[in-house]
Formats: sequence, structure tokens, C-alpha cells
Amino acid sequence: MGDQQKLQFLDLVAQYRTIKPEVDAAIEKVVSSGGFILGRTVEEFEAGVAAYVGVRHAVGVNSGTDALYLALKAAGVRAGDEVITTPFTFIATAEVVTWVPATPVFVDICPDTLNIDPARIEAAITKKTRAIMPVHIYGQAADMDEIMAIAKRHDLAVIEDCAQSLGAAYRGRQTGSIGRIAGLSFYPSKNLGAYGDGGMILTDDDAAARECRMLRQHGSEKTYHHVKIGVNSRLDALQAAVLAVKLKYLDRWNRSRREKAAHYDARFAGVGDIVTPEVRGYNDMIYHQYTLRTARRDAMVEHLRQHQVPCAVHYPIPLHLQPAFESLGKRQGSFPVAEDAASRVFSLPIYPEITGEQQDRVADAVAGFFK
Ligand SMILES: Cc1ncc(COP(=O)(O)O)c(C=O)c1O
Repeated sequence: MGDQQKLQFLDLVAQYRTIKPEVDAAIEKVVSSGGFILGRTVEEFEAGVAAYVGVRHAVGVNSGTDALYLALKAAGVRAGDEVITTPFTFIATAEVVTWVPATPVFVDICPDTLNIDPARIEAAITKKTRAIMPVHIYGQAADMDEIMAIAKRHDLAVIEDCAQSLGAAYRGRQTGSIGRIAGLSFYPSKNLGAYGDGGMILTDDDAAARECRMLRQHGSEKTYHHVKIGVNSRLDALQAAVLAVKLKYLDRWNRSRREKAAHYDARFAGVGDIVTPEVRGYNDMIYHQYTLRTARRDAMVEHLRQHQVPCAVHYPIPLHLQPAFESLGKRQGSFPVAEDAASRVFSLPIYPEITGEQQDRVADAVAGFFK
């Protein structure tokens, strides 16, 4: 590679450089105010995200994981209930169900979007089912109309896992504004990423929002008066200040990701057995990940590694085959579409600051695998 700069999977420093004066000033303002826990900075950012998504309430918490856990609690999921979700996601989605403690019930995914397949949901509903938790994987919305219709027929809550989808739309509606409650993640690598952990709960439901505000603060609304057993899960004011600066750029960054995705799509047309991301016509995807599929995925990953091209696998093992979920009694063959996806997916670097030249080096290496 000579003196060419090393490729990175994600370059958060490049992004920081583009907004450094604003971010530095926002951090300085919080530090010199001395207010670090909740308060005005967090409230203003909550209002900003609520307005952006188009919901009445936003509650800042410690992480996307906590957001989903508190959303389940606020949606009325109780010990012994079942929550239907996808096995093709990051573990947090199903992990939080077990914290309630309720049981995750997996349903296989659609072969194009890799999101939960609504046609298979009703067969998984039992007397214990309390909620459906779709994940908008890689930044593309799940089939929300079908999911909402099923939820309505069976009186179930829908909790959207929007950890990867802030800014993505389904038939013109923002993800996070469609189900009863949604959880966002501000993990640094997310399209809107903090400088540490962070998350948020979104809802139009006044009672659910109030419950989440109480639970994130040790089950209290008044200092040292505790109505319920809660948790300590508050969004830091410092993170809120950074995120408020970044929120202004989110649409621009998401547009840029779409352009980068289109560039990759063009480069991979007809290359080997590569399947590029399949986006439904009515979905506005934000490409949290740019994820390809090939039958020889492991060899491809090794080839890219040898050519110093960073890549990642989201995700190599579907949740029902993770040892952590062994007690659910599922096995190889239980969810063939998810298993097939897990064996073929690999993600390439995509972020607003990646250059066309860098993308071409990545694409050349992928194409080189088939030569
Ligand atoms: C689909 C999904 N759900 C939940 C989470 C959990 O978010 P966090 O890492 O902020 O706890 C993540 C990301 O990390 C995710 O990708």
C-alpha cells in the first residue's frame, strides 16, 4: 500500500475534526456549569430528538440496552411473559427480555432485509406473549404495517429496537415513532454516536414516558422517595451536549452514507456471487452498516484481512445458537434464514467521511477475491 493511509472500519476522529470547535465549546459549557447529571442539557437534547423523530417524549438513559430494558418494563412486560423478536440481531435485544425476567421467542427473518418476518409471527404467539420487538437491522425498517396489525389483533405492545436506525423511515414515517415505545443507542459507532455510552427511550405514551423517567432514577420522582425498584441509568449531560451538536448533522451524514452505499452498490454489481444490501422501495435506509453476502464469507474475510482491508461480521452467530440462550432449546435448523445470513454476511467500512478513493481500495480488494 506504500504511503497510502491505512483503511479504517470507522474513523470517529475524522468526524470529530469536522465539528471540533462546536463540540469543544459544548463540552466546556457543561464542565464549567458544574451540572453533570440530567438537568437542562439533557432535557434540551431529549426535546431535540423527540422533535426529530416526531414523538411526544424522549427519555435519555445510559445505553441502548437500558433503553430497551426500561421500554419493556414500561410496556407492561412482566415475569413469565414472552416477547417475540428476531434471532438476527445484537444480543442486547433479547438479553434485556431475560432481565425482566421474560422469555425471548425468536421468529425467523426475511431473506432480503434480514428483518423479522411478519408472516411467521402469528404462529409464535401464545397466551404468554406480551410484546413484539422488531429490530431495524443495519438501518432499514422492519415491516411495521404488518407487525402493527398483528399486534393490534392480539393486543400486544410493539417495542422498536432503533439502535441502528435513527433517521431511517418506513413509508415516510420515522422509525421509533411507529410502535408503542422505542429504544435508541448512542454507542460511539452508531450514526448518532456519543463519546461513550448513551441511549434513549421514545414514546407518545405519557404514562410509559413517566414510568421510564422514574425507573431510570432509582424508581423515584421526588428525591429520596422511591415508588418502585428502578435502576441508575441516566444520560450524562456531557454526552447530551456532544449529541446535541451532532444531531444537527445527522441528516447530512445519513445522506452521505446513502451516497457511499450507492457507490459500493455500483462497484459490486455482477462481482462474483456478491449480494448487495436489498432495500425495499418504501424504505429510507440509513446504512448503519453496509453489509454484503457471499457464500465464501470466511475466505473473503481472510482475504480482506490479508489485504489490510478492515471488515466486520454482523453477526456470525444467530442468537438462538449462542450458548447464552442454550436454555431456550433451539438448535441448528431452527431458523434457517437467519442461520444462512449469519454464514454469509460481512460489512465494509461506511461512514460519512470515507473518501471515494478509500471506498475504491475496499471494492478492489473485494473484487480481487474473485479473480
Ligand atoms: C440492534 C441493537 N440493539 C441494541 C443495542 C444495544 O445498544 P448499547 O450498546 O447502546 O447498549 C445495539 C448496539 O449496540 C444494537 O445494535
